Amino acid sequence: MSELNDIQSVLTENRIFDPPAGFQEKLGGAWVESMEAYRDLHAKSIADPAGFWESVASNLQWFKPWDTVLEWNLPDARWFIGGTINACYNCVDRHVEDGHGDEVAIVWEGEPMDNDDPDIRHLTYSDIQDKVSRCANALKSLGVGKGDVVTIYMGMVPELSIACLACARIGAPHSVIFGGFSSQAIVDRVEDADSRVVITCDGAWRRGSVVPLKANVDAAAAKTKCIEKTIVFKRCDNEIAWDDARDHWWHDLMEEADAECPCEHMDSEDMLFLLYTSGSTGKPKGIMHSTGGYMVYTMLTSRFTFNLRPDDGQVFWCTADVGWITGHSYIIYGIMANRVPTLMYEGAPNHPEPDRFWSIVDRHKVTQFYTAPTAIRAFMKWGDEHPAKHDLSSLAVLGTVGEPINPEAWMWYHRVIGQERCPIVDTWWQTETGAIMMTPLPAATPTVPGSCTLPFFGIDAIVCDEQGNEKPPNTGGLLSIRQPWPAMLRGVHGDRQRFIDTYFSTVDGMYFAGDSARRDERGYFWIMGRVDDVINVSGHRLGTMEVESALVSHDAVVEAAVVGMPHEIKGTGIAAFVTLGGGVEACDELKASLREHVAGEIGAIAKPDMIRFTDALPKTRSGKIMRRLLRDVASGKESTGDMTTIEDFTVLAKLRDDED
Ligand code: WTA
Repeated sequence: MSELNDIQSVLTENRIFDPPAGFQEKLGGAWVESMEAYRDLHAKSIADPAGFWESVASNLQWFKPWDTVLEWNLPDARWFIGGTINACYNCVDRHVEDGHGDEVAIVWEGEPMDNDDPDIRHLTYSDIQDKVSRCANALKSLGVGKGDVVTIYMGMVPELSIACLACARIGAPHSVIFGGFSSQAIVDRVEDADSRVVITCDGAWRRGSVVPLKANVDAAAAKTKCIEKTIVFKRCDNEIAWDDARDHWWHDLMEEADAECPCEHMDSEDMLFLLYTSGSTGKPKGIMHSTGGYMVYTMLTSRFTFNLRPDDGQVFWCTADVGWITGHSYIIYGIMANRVPTLMYEGAPNHPEPDRFWSIVDRHKVTQFYTAPTAIRAFMKWGDEHPAKHDLSSLAVLGTVGEPINPEAWMWYHRVIGQERCPIVDTWWQTETGAIMMTPLPAATPTVPGSCTLPFFGIDAIVCDEQGNEKPPNTGGLLSIRQPWPAMLRGVHGDRQRFIDTYFSTVDGMYFAGDSARRDERGYFWIMGRVDDVINVSGHRLGTMEVESALVSHDAVVEAAVVGMPHEIKGTGIAAFVTLGGGVEACDELKASLREHVAGEIGAIAKPDMIRFTDALPKTRSGKIMRRLLRDVASGKESTGDMTTIEDFTVLAKLRDDED
């Protein structure tokens, strides 16, 4: 962390974009109309958090009102204490009861077999109420009750959202595993959560191939006794193995199940879901989110950040996978709670053609579009002719999330996709924060390419040192949050100490996000990146230790060190330095086999972009791997830092000479 002291950022970005004129008419009025309105409400939300959040919470339907808004005993926050609520009820049933049952809730586009005839489904709130209730009863028939964790490992089909909502309906926390993760990742997560039921698909389509989801669950079930029952949704009709005692077809269970299922009255603090995310040490940790606070905060951030309005013909599209927090909050809970149709797609941005996204925007008249900088950089590279083929005039707000956006990509997004009339909301947040923490508000905040601008309501963010002293403008420091917010994580599943150590031990008395940042003289925040051993590959978090453990579990490998390196599209790529066992020959075939091995242990997203074999790794006298030096080698930079403690200078010289 001492590296932070070196960072005296140079402010080079002077472009500033006021909220575009005409925006308000386009979206039927703005929730937050001006910078004055933002500043006024933000100040109120910080001065009186209980009063502010109480008035927001009454926008949801509670079975029983809360007695106390907030109880804060660092690091434990409890929100809306004594209140009972159901997340599924607020996303589905409430809208049906209010007379909106026939309105579209989910728009889905499957991967097209042929570009002119995409697979499209529109599901109304009534359709979803029926399916969610049946799915909830099906889960009950398999013995799932309140408090039992259900694992969901599916492709991007509406049934994935239905499965999540069904769990929420009966108070069974869900643990969604991204469909790109391996069978080993499933084993680790079901064991940690002690989850006995897995909902999956036979397969998922991606770039014309079937991702064998059921086969991965079978492989996981062979490695752990935990998985007792699976429910299999038929998507691809691919060949799968079948175990009569364990496997059940989704369609059979749904047909047999009753279409009436009451929503459980959940305590506000009951766990809504668990979501695993990488940390700097060991295996991914299960981040626990509550029901009441998460719903209140996610509903409001969705509404204000994207200016959601339910009766104005909007269609919201977040391109993330539900397997990540972005999908949880901005495909399902936050968007559905606002009664705006949420679009979900299956496949990839460049299949069958690199215009896939723009054809979806055009066909469904998407109004708010939310994606990641890595996708924007890829589109830039593929060329302007692809968006140019489509009518993008429905777009009104553009969002980005997951990693810092470079000003060049921001400008391209603004010019080519937004056609210079759509505000861009660069949203900073994390799995742990549950929902957006810093963002411009589309009709209020002047934007600057590369800055996530200012904190959301109720968020008291600061850039500081370890003692909590605020840093002067344009000086790097630790990004921390001083006060609790309703959607903050409630803990790390099964590991109280890790919860405290990771988030509440670095900076005195505050939540520390693991990111460094600076504020400019305007007060705008600029995220600089992770300060722990977590790297952000295409907006996906990976712990360098996880990739190292995967490499070391290969027979040929004795030691491995993994660092991030700059990557044109991914933002950060993975560089691995590997020491082989005696007698093992370093060759290209071995590199390929190591990449596959890592994919098998974690998932394809963790495959190293560069592998370099080395006789030894540069270490300090106390035996710590000098990662900073490796980062410099991986990015081709000269090391200027202090090297006096390095044990063997020749190691570094050798690494540098060796071309990949
Ligand atoms: C990074 C994704 C810069 C950051 C929602 C954070 C960002 C990590 C931004 C969380 C942004 C997310 N600008 N960096 N707008 N958004 N990050 O848990 O390093 O997958 O700590 O949550 O992504 O990643 P996670």
